[in-house]
Amino acid sequence: MKDLLRTNTSLHEGVEKLLNLQSKIESDASTKYLAMAAWLDRNGYECTAEYMYKQSEEEREHFLKVFKYITEMGGIAITPSVSEVQQEFASFREVFEIALQNEITVTHAVNKVIAKCRLENDYATEEFMMWYVKEQREEERNARRALELFELIDEDSATGKFQLDKEIAKIGANE
Ligand code: FEO
Repeated sequence: MKDLLRTNTSLHEGVEKLLNLQSKIESDASTKYLAMAAWLDRNGYECTAEYMYKQSEEEREHFLKVFKYITEMGGIAITPSVSEVQQEFASFREVFEIALQNEITVTHAVNKVIAKCRLENDYATEEFMMWYVKEQREEERNARRALELFELIDEDSATGKFQLDKEIAKIGANE
């Protein structure tokens, strides 16, 4: 039965596997940012909490986009299970350090899908994944900018945390 289904799609099994992995990674990113948003919220960082809630929603959109693509191509989209996520953070800054590392990991995963597409001559999926390439460039830049602000604004000054909360939340506002 599985072989019969396979004949109805041009999607290579190896590409499909990596797309399902990408779907899981995007879904995990949404959950991770949700936990960060909650931590920021309960520690008084009202503006960046909103920023992270929005990031979490965006990641869910990224997840759904790839999930639906697999189905559209005749593949089998696997619903990702919810992974255990970090709920507590050592500091305000650590949240953004982890967020940047997360984005870098996502970029590497996107590149892996594209490398596999090239190997299998899957031009449709490669073209689809280009949206993620652009998105990751922006998301990595935004995450780096947040860390730059920690260098520019002294977190331990009288209004440092308050200022950082406001400034970080403005990142990417014009995109
Ligand atoms: Fe969709 Fe920022 O990974």
